[in-house]
Amino acid sequence: MININCLDKIAAIGLDGLTADYNKAASFEEADAVLVRSAKMHDMEFGANLKAIARAGAGVNNIPLDKCAEEGIVVFNTPGANANGVKEMVIAGLLLASRDIVGGINWVQTVKDDENIAALAEKTKSKFGGTEIKGKKLGVIGLGAIGVIVANAAVSLGMEVYGYDPFISVKSAWSLSRGVKHISAVEDIYKNCDFITVHVPLMDSTKENINKEAFAMMKDGVVILNFARDLLVNEVEIGEALASGKVKRYVTDFPNTTTAGMPGTIVVPHLGASTEESEDNCAIMAVQEIRDYIENGNINNSVNYPSCDMGICEKAGRIAVNHKNVPAVISKITSIFGQTAINISDMMNKSKNNYAYSLFDLDKAITDDIVKEIRAIEGVIKVRVIK
Ligand code: MLT
Repeated sequence: MININCLDKIAAIGLDGLTADYNKAASFEEADAVLVRSAKMHDMEFGANLKAIARAGAGVNNIPLDKCAEEGIVVFNTPGANANGVKEMVIAGLLLASRDIVGGINWVQTVKDDENIAALAEKTKSKFGGTEIKGKKLGVIGLGAIGVIVANAAVSLGMEVYGYDPFISVKSAWSLSRGVKHISAVEDIYKNCDFITVHVPLMDSTKENINKEAFAMMKDGVVILNFARDLLVNEVEIGEALASGKVKRYVTDFPNTTTAGMPGTIVVPHLGASTEESEDNCAIMAVQEIRDYIENGNINNSVNYPSCDMGICEKAGRIAVNHKNVPAVISKITSIFGQTAINISDMMNKSKNNYAYSLFDLDKAITDDIVKEIRAIEGVIKVRVIK
């Protein structure tokens, strides 16, 4: 039985993808694999059986990636699975920031019992008016699965869209509308755009990049949208920029005691991916990733180990080795196979930063003693007999 623990609510349609070989109600301590959405895992102790964590979502800042890699725990995310849900919230954010729709709705409640409400509305409505987004300039920082479809949707709404991503993938580049202007210096987005939306992961290199130096370059009355992660924006400095009128509105999906009551801020309770469709898509993808890793040893969409996929094993045996990305590990493993007359029929070795992963398909099943020998090689973190 393979033990699965869900740290958060995971959509049933995803969990339905787990066969009778999986115990979906396992404790965290005994789990072979964990499914997580928002739970913070940085201070958790991992059980000895834990092999994989799948985040039903894109961001992985709630998971200690290096600690996991060091312990041979592969962390997956579900890129693109909730992208449409987030895109629709960004479009809603653009519209909410262009006119004072929220202020107008709140005002209606203050006069809800007044018989003259209709006439009052006609008298008061000019307070809540604004501008249209058509023809305005939108800067999209980060052109991953979400940024690309936000940019494309904004083009089709008639916006002039500027896209910035020095690390754009070939897939994203192919998916991007020809109407998006490619920007190679983010400062050009700061200087030119009426609306700026951020779609990058939270990392040391991206933390608080939207700060007072950036605001100083921006147009007066710019609108900032953040449906990615709170710490991408310096919240104290955006408060100052809102107070001075430099920033007209800050639309954020991340409430906290700084943003929640900040004048000029539209704060949404982390609803970007909270649609039935996104939750289903993320759960289905997370479960598929876990199953392929547990059953076949294949890694797809990991954020701390390389992609490594040899399909389903047709040979007598397959072993998977998580190891450090250092010289001689592969030669030591293959020489153990050579000494024990085990023929390697296929193999794959991939690395990502300090860590590597290797799969070996073998013409003979291997014994516990050989597994022990491989485990003892310096740099080897984990050895798993898949078949
Ligand atoms: C994400 O990182 O994709 C979102 O935070 C998903 C979520 O709301 O759980």
